Amino acid sequence: MQLKKNTISNSKILVTGGLGYIGSHTSVELIQQGFEVIIVDDLSNSSPSVLEGIKKIIDYPITFIELDLKDKNSVKDLFELNPDISGVIHFAASKAVGESRIKPIEYYENNLVSLINLLKEIDKKGDSFPFIFSSSCTVYGQADQLPINELAPIKKAESPYGNTKQVGEEILFDALIANKCLRVVSLRYFNPIGAHPSGEIGELPNGKPQNLVPFITQTAAGIHKKLSVFGNDYPTIDGTCIRDYIHIVDLAKAHVIALRHITLKNQVKSFEVFNIGTGKGSTVLEVIKTFEKISGQSLNYEISPRRKGDITAAYADTRKANKVLGWEAELSLEEALISAWKWEKKIREL
Ligand code: NAD
Ligand code: WQD
Repeated sequence: MQLKKNTISNSKILVTGGLGYIGSHTSVELIQQGFEVIIVDDLSNSSPSVLEGIKKIIDYPITFIELDLKDKNSVKDLFELNPDISGVIHFAASKAVGESRIKPIEYYENNLVSLINLLKEIDKKGDSFPFIFSSSCTVYGQADQLPINELAPIKKAESPYGNTKQVGEEILFDALIANKCLRVVSLRYFNPIGAHPSGEIGELPNGKPQNLVPFITQTAAGIHKKLSVFGNDYPTIDGTCIRDYIHIVDLAKAHVIALRHITLKNQVKSFEVFNIGTGKGSTVLEVIKTFEKISGQSLNYEISPRRKGDITAAYADTRKANKVLGWEAELSLEEALISAWKWEKKIREL
């Protein structure tokens, strides 16, 4: 395949959690944009088969190292053996909100110790060093104003998982003040959905999915009898909650653009936060109707009680990312659901 020539020198990028959902799609975009990529992953929530999927799309050599970032000696060896790592995109984390309430200590350990181990090695670097952090719209809780911009107050986290994102950003902010080389972009994702249009990689939820779109596609594939719609008595147009669903490929591209942005910028110290969403909110029932339209089948669903901890509405004000990064989401909800459904049918061999 034709790869773009990368104009940024010394551009070997470490992608942690690169076999996961967002990391795999971002690795594809990075390679297609001419970056050299080293993926590390401990396979705690992914499978080696994802690497095969990535290779089918890019047809280009890719380095994968199985490694647990909680192990500080392994992280030290990684950086010593790869002194030319010139930037990190840090996806590796545990991400299930409900599970984090049951295993809070494991979540704090995995999400924060991994980050600290990386920062300890980056501290030894002499040149400016870009670091992109996977943050989440969850840091805003139920924002007082919609759409949500980056200046919206951070609300008390609803879960230990959410707190690891807030504390992670604080750790990075403090690290940046003390380290003159570090440059940080924290991307606060809204709701990533869909799969690569090739059908070679997509989301692989562990067990019963908690998120709406994989539950929809699994229900349509016959794995679950019906989808529960959690509440229809919210103060929204149809009573169901509103979220900002962003196509995974748009989200992946935002990382490459953010990486170029901090790498090329002539400013030594910087900590920048960007909302990454479409700017458009959709209700749960709108997502269901759109899925029914693109799949041509009716979905079995019922209205159930509200899910504890759910907020009424969240969608992004993306003007900062549009203006400063020159990035905007290009793909529609329909396109995202088409790709999600194609992926579900492929993995279920339907
Ligand atoms: P994912 O679980 O699919 O990917 C994370 C990857 O990290 C997995 O492959 C897992 O095996 C790996 N990993 C976990 N702990 C590790 C460790 N100690 N060492 C090495 N590898 C480790 O999750 P995702 O959906 O791709 O999310 C990526 C990042 O984005 C996470 O930080 C998550 O919190 C954040 N995020 C995700 C969403 C979402 O809805 N998917 C939304 C906002 C933020
Ligand atoms: C979306 C909407 C549900 C499942 C979660 C995390 C958040 C972030 C993104 C990482 C809600 C409704 C869902 C179902 C339903 N992740 N729903 N039936 O809750 O916005 O955010 O993922 O940072 O931290 O909390 O996403 O996909 O779970 O739910 O009715 O079976 O769909 O109530 O309104 P959410 P979601």
